[in-house]
Amino acid sequence: MQLMRSWLFVPGNRPRMIQKAPTLGADVIVYDLEDALPSAEKAAGRGLVAEAIEAPRGRSLRYVRVEADPEAGLEDARAVFRPGLDGLVLPKVSEVSRLQQTDAALEALEAGAGMEPGSVRILAMIESARGLLAAPAIAAACPRMVGLFFGAEDFTLDLGVFASDEEGPDEMLYARSAVAVAAASRGLVAVDRIVPEFQTLEPLSADAKRARRLGFGGKGVIHPRQIACVHQAFAPSEKQIQQARAVIDRFEQAQREGLGTLQVDGKMVDWPIVEKAKGLLRMAEASESEEPE
Ligand code: COA
Ligand code: MG
Repeated sequence: MQLMRSWLFVPGNRPRMIQKAPTLGADVIVYDLEDALPSAEKAAGRGLVAEAIEAPRGRSLRYVRVEADPEAGLEDARAVFRPGLDGLVLPKVSEVSRLQQTDAALEALEAGAGMEPGSVRILAMIESARGLLAAPAIAAACPRMVGLFFGAEDFTLDLGVFASDEEGPDEMLYARSAVAVAAASRGLVAVDRIVPEFQTLEPLSADAKRARRLGFGGKGVIHPRQIACVHQAFAPSEKQIQQARAVIDRFEQAQREGLGTLQVDGKMVDWPIVEKAKGLLRMAEASESEEPE
């Protein structure tokens, strides 16, 4: 089971951060050639990122976020494309044609590099009202789609919502749920917004747990400290693991006895509950098998 809980953004022009990134234990590293990079540093940034992708692989997958402008984005993709690249993050996606164009370009690049067709995946960032409305079609755009990311800052800007100190966790509920459902409709991972606060971890932890309840499988992170916090928020708790084991044991026992439905701790248990319990144990196992951070 491939976990994609933490997506660590690393500015493409910061050699020190690029060098540290593979040692930090993130599930996915996103080398950033978009927002985090002043345009004067573009050429140097592409070179640094290309080098990072050539370096031996650690435990993290390696993605590159390219420019939102389709032409500039393809230039970025060509500059960093090489074996070792696991995927692209496309910002500000609002229509399917963007994916189709990128899909075709990647196919040609893969052929040129002797790579398996479709091996370089795409995470599309949903960051506008138009993007949100097109999210189900974007998720279905091509087989190389791996997931959808909810980009909250640009989304609220597009909606005309100003940041305030009174932000509640519910104000983006519809948009986040819509992204999670669109991703799930194609079996993709939904990746939730970054939390800019990195000195204290409580806001991130609460937001990540909420994201998980909404159906997200991961979250963007911007600082090393945030990685373990996100992994913890997305890992099943000991109590959930015990409950899942009890459900599966009792269900198997009931099946042997020829019973269809049963109860565990006063709650009715049937097939979807058993399937969820199995999924939870798979996730717990995958979370445990990784190196300690
Ligand atoms: N990736 C890899 N390493 C990182 C990192 C990142 N995103 N953020 C910080 N680090 C490293 C620093 O280099 C530092 O290591 P060092 O002391 O061994 O050199 C260590 O982690 C601690 O960093 P700290 O001093 O606490 O933070 P900072 O002031 O250096 O950086 C930010 C703070 C926010 C500027 C930085 O975390 C950052 O640029 N994050 C990514 C932002 C981004 O990509 N935004 C756009 C996408 S949303
Ligand atoms: Mg952005």
